[in-house]
Amino acid sequence: MKLVVDTSAAMEQLGAVLAGVARAGDVIVLTGELGAGKTTLARGMGDAMELETPVSSPTFIVARHHRSHNPERPPLVHLDAYRLGSSAELDELDIDVEHSIVLAEWAAEYAQALSNQWLEIGVQRPIGGAEDVESDQPREVSISAHGEDNDMMARFGAALEDFRVSRG
Ligand SMILES: Nc1ncnc2c1ncn2[C@@H]1O[C@H](COP(=O)(O)OP(=O)(O)OP(=O)(O)O)[C@@H](O)[C@H]1O
Ligand SMILES: [Mg+2]
Repeated sequence: MKLVVDTSAAMEQLGAVLAGVARAGDVIVLTGELGAGKTTLARGMGDAMELETPVSSPTFIVARHHRSHNPERPPLVHLDAYRLGSSAELDELDIDVEHSIVLAEWAAEYAQALSNQWLEIGVQRPIGGAEDVESDQPREVSISAHGEDNDMMARFGAALEDFRVSRG
């Protein structure tokens, strides 16, 4: 599934849509170049999950655990796999995937070490042209399900479709 996300506020709203559907055990991988909007999406998701600590860009941190104020919601583990050297290092982090929602930036190659199924969200900046990074510019977002027995697209699909329709 593909959608165009025009502004960083809309990217945060997309994160909130994901938060509405995600459950413990879900692994969501965010791919895309520097400044594409991965952390912007993660921040929107984190806000909607009512986390005790805000999601930020984990520049020097590989994994950050965020608990929710809401006892009904699982914690969010925000991973920056860019800092990760190998899947052995990922094992050492000992992430409790079953009881968390894992949101991983740059982790496509490590996703299968975390779970047998995951959702991949690719964020792309407009091709060519100089860009003022701070100003709102459309992003193309591609969402796909990967791995065995993947039921994530069935669960996320309807909410994402509603989001796409509501954005026109
Ligand atoms: N449509 C849009 N969606 C998301 N971000 C946008 C959009 N338009 C402009 N931006 C801006 O682009 C920047 C995206 O930065 P962000 O930190 O989210 O990227 P990133 O993919 O996490 O980068 P990095 O790889 O460095 O972690 C922000 O400054 C944001 O305001
Ligand atoms: Mg980032």
